[in-house]
Amino acid sequence: MSGGGPRPGACTVSVCRDCCCGTQKVPGVDHDAQLDLLRRELAGICRVRVTRCLDVCEQADVVVVQPSPAARAAGARPVWLGLVNDPGAVDDIVAWVRAGGPGVAAPPDVLDLYAIEPPGGRVVGAADAAP
Ligand code: FES
Repeated sequence: MSGGGPRPGACTVSVCRDCCCGTQKVPGVDHDAQLDLLRRELAGICRVRVTRCLDVCEQADVVVVQPSPAARAAGARPVWLGLVNDPGAVDDIVAWVRAGGPGVAAPPDVLDLYAIEPPGGRVVGAADAAP
């Protein structure tokens, strides 16, 4: 699917881009291509937004997949993924989100390798959005 806004009630993908994520501190990654791929492949499916530093720079690049409001109400929680530095991981994120994301579809097993704990129970919110 392409074009249009996110589906109503869809999940949200937050892509960290700040002091470490998306910079040359993480070498060998085409960060712009990574973000472009997420935006292109998830257009019309969910919102992909860029956030400021999420305080886990040692895990750069960081992506957080937040459940849809309905899935969250049913108990799903955001899934934090770190060291998302290869195209295969991005492809797996895309496939999972297209299937519904947290609380709706089981993530591809390989994404377990990228799962990280949010710092101090941190929640990604609107205040994290990059200007
Ligand atoms: S820049 Fe992404 S966690 Fe700090």
